[in-house]
Amino acid sequence: QMHGTNAAGAGSAADPRMGSGEGEMTLTDRQGHPISDNQNIRTIGSRGPSTLENYHFIEKISHFDRERIPERVVHARGAGAYGYFEAYGKVGSEPIAAYTRAKLFQEAGKRTPVFVRFSTVVHGGHSPETLRDPRGFAVKFYTEDGNWDLVGNNLKIFFIRDPLKFPDMVHSFKPDPVTNINDPERMFDFLSNSPEATHMVTFLFSPWGIPANYRQMQGSGVNTYKWVNEEGKAVIVKYHWEPLKTAIRNLTQKEADEIQGKNYSHATQDLYEAIERGDYPEWELAVQILSDDEHPELDFDPLDPTKLWDAGQFPFLPVGKMVLNRNPENYFAEVEQAAFGTGVLVDGLDFSDDKLLQGRTFSYSDTQRHRVGTNYLQLPVNAPKKHVATNQRDGQMAFVVDRAPDQNPHVNYEPSSIGGLKEAVPTGKEHEPAYSDKLVRRKIERANDFKQAGETYRRFEDWEREELIANLTDALLVCRPVIREKMIEYFTNADPDYGRRVSESLAKAGSIGERMGSVYEQQGVEMADEMGRSTD
Ligand code: HEM
Repeated sequence: QMHGTNAAGAGSAADPRMGSGEGEMTLTDRQGHPISDNQNIRTIGSRGPSTLENYHFIEKISHFDRERIPERVVHARGAGAYGYFEAYGKVGSEPIAAYTRAKLFQEAGKRTPVFVRFSTVVHGGHSPETLRDPRGFAVKFYTEDGNWDLVGNNLKIFFIRDPLKFPDMVHSFKPDPVTNINDPERMFDFLSNSPEATHMVTFLFSPWGIPANYRQMQGSGVNTYKWVNEEGKAVIVKYHWEPLKTAIRNLTQKEADEIQGKNYSHATQDLYEAIERGDYPEWELAVQILSDDEHPELDFDPLDPTKLWDAGQFPFLPVGKMVLNRNPENYFAEVEQAAFGTGVLVDGLDFSDDKLLQGRTFSYSDTQRHRVGTNYLQLPVNAPKKHVATNQRDGQMAFVVDRAPDQNPHVNYEPSSIGGLKEAVPTGKEHEPAYSDKLVRRKIERANDFKQAGETYRRFEDWEREELIANLTDALLVCRPVIREKMIEYFTNADPDYGRRVSESLAKAGSIGERMGSVYEQQGVEMADEMGRSTD
């Protein structure tokens, strides 16, 4: 606290800035100067002009001018909450230490504090939370070994498997760079040239593309990770969050439209209010485990993020549960500045060779150094809740020197014999996978782009399939024939009934001529059908 609690000690006649009556509630500027007039700038006479030395005004307005930082380039719209993760101390019914030495999982009942941020993906920071979009489900575990971020989505798979395609994908989903209008034709132009997206499109245009809120949805790590035990042996794993206390609930397009007509923030509000009234949302964390090899017996590659691992064959094994029980006190400081990344793992957890995961792992901390700043890890929401001792120094907004109490302050380097930091003692054997192959640019062999899309289509309930067909019809109706035809071909490859129904529904709904306000056509821009490039 910067100020005395009563006027007697704080102000004196010798201090011209301080009148009497300064207390804890007294308004000050960032320099601690009490502000006695917050209504009027200094002017020559009451009618102006003003003068440039108006320190309080200039500080106030110039800080306001800088109140925004760049939004997240994706997942800009979100909501956050704190809570804890409680380990079951086993994986399914087996001892967990056989699979991972990660400390947070070992003991039944052990609690690790967490911060979670849910989000939508494509649109800006105040866009409606009813939009058809995957939902982000990012969890930061503040473990005794440092932070672990599990940066997931609600849906269990993804559109693409190569990170090189991510910027193009996102560009096609975001508003048109000329009109700033969201255009399904641009999105489906990309998707119809990316057959691997068919499975994800099938989920996204079904009711699973609009979860009812953040509490009643699942989460998934999507990418394949590794668990490493004390001997350095690894298995590959997928992570899943399943809501406890409530069913999963999704919306039809009509239900979403009705909510959107009244409330742009229904999911944030639902989460905030549930926590305020003590109805704390809970999820169980489960993993699927496979041995760490290529699994030639499967008709897909277990590292391929466009694929599900069949739950019948590879059961969900519970490892703990998460409870969210505290709302942030300030949205900007805690939620907006929160930074999650797939590189943030603890001992006993590792990356897999999944290419998409490796691309992500570079991208997150790179964007955060730009979006939040070089020292983003010193902010309370991002900083680990254990000792941090590095030799990293300086940079914009550095406000702590993260050195150990006994560290010689002159030694900001390692190795040293005069009081510098020392390397940690390893807690187990290093996992050392062996590689021997040519360096190539090549897609994976078992691409199998359509089979699981068909399985997912057949697993849907009738009303979900009806919604899917109707939602795809609305979107494809504004697309040129070349795009529609490719999409119908993909849906047919997935399941002939799926392709036929989309095709019939489109024929019934009308022709391309009905497209409203096609900017390309108005501008005479010819996006010739021949430009469609096959990725095969
Ligand atoms: C956010 C990149 C795929 C889940 C972000 C951000 C970037 C990014 C740059 C903004 C981060 C920030 O400003 O703090 C990528 C790339 C991907 C990819 C390059 C593929 C190559 C995925 C996948 C998932 C996912 C597959 C789901 C498993 C999320 C989530 C957030 C996010 C949940 C928001 C985190 C938060 O709440 O702050 N991504 N992403 N992303 N991404 Fe990805």
